[in-house]
Amino acid sequence: MPLIPLEDNFDDLINKAQRGLQISDEDLAARSGVTLEDLSKVKAGELHIAVLRRVARHLRLGPNALEAMARKSWYPEMPAFPRGFAAFNTAFEDMTVNSYLIWDSKTKEAAAFDTGASVESMLDVISSARLRLKYIFLTHDHEDHIADLSRLSAAAPQAEVWSHEEAPLDHPGAQTFQEGVHFHIGDLDIKTLLTAGHARGQTTFFISGLSWSLAIVGDSLFASSIGGSPTHYEMQVRNDRNKIFTLPRDTVLAAGHGPLTTLTQEKKNNPVFAS
Ligand SMILES: [Fe+2]
Repeated sequence: MPLIPLEDNFDDLINKAQRGLQISDEDLAARSGVTLEDLSKVKAGELHIAVLRRVARHLRLGPNALEAMARKSWYPEMPAFPRGFAAFNTAFEDMTVNSYLIWDSKTKEAAAFDTGASVESMLDVISSARLRLKYIFLTHDHEDHIADLSRLSAAAPQAEVWSHEEAPLDHPGAQTFQEGVHFHIGDLDIKTLLTAGHARGQTTFFISGLSWSLAIVGDSLFASSIGGSPTHYEMQVRNDRNKIFTLPRDTVLAAGHGPLTTLTQEKKNNPVFAS
C-alpha cells in the first residue's frame, strides 16, 4: 500500500478539540493570552508556533506533539505483518477510508473489518489467498465505513455480519455483540472493546495471534489525531485512554483513516494523548 498521509493537519486537530471542548474563540484567545487575529490564523493553518503552543494547553493537546504535527516532522513507522493481515485504502467522496482483513494462515479463515468505499481489492486477496471469510465486523455505522457491505456480503454469503448492539445494522441477517466478547478465526482471538464517542457503538477489535497485537480502532483515534465529535469528544478521549492506551505497548493501531501506527508511537506523538 502506498504511504497514506496523516488524516489531519494540526489546524484540523485544533478545530476538533475546540469544538469538542466547546470553547469559544474569544474564550480560547483570552485563556491562551493570544489575540483573536492570531488565533484565527492558526486555526486556518498558518504556521505560528508560539501561538499554537499557547493554545495547545487550553485544548488539552501536547504542545510538542502539536508542534511536530505542524512542522510535519513526524510520520509513524509502520510495523510489518509478514502474513495474515492486509489493509485497504479506498476513495470515498473527497477523502479516503481504510478497511482491513485478517486471516489465520493454517485454517485460511478470515475476518473483514469495515468495507470502505469498495471491497474490490479485499475480494482479490480473499480469492488469491484462498481464504474463507467467516466474519464481517463493522467498527461503526458511518457511511464511508460500510458503503460496500452489500457487495462483500453477496460475495461471501457464509460470512456473519456483526456490529455493536448500540449500532445495529440495517442489513439482512446482521447480528449484534456486546463489549468484551470474543470471536475466533483459527488460532486468532478477536475481542470487542466499546470505544464510542465519534460514533455510537463504535468498537475497537483487539486481535491476538498475529505477529503483533493488533487493534482495529475505526475512528476512535487516528495517527496523530482522533475521530471528531462535537458532542462526545471527551467521551472519545476517555474511552481511548481507558481502553486503547491500556493495551499491550507494542500493539499496532489500525485506524479508519490515515496510516497504521503503534500504541507506543501515539503515546509520544499524538497531541491528544502526549503530555
Ligand atoms: Fe470515518
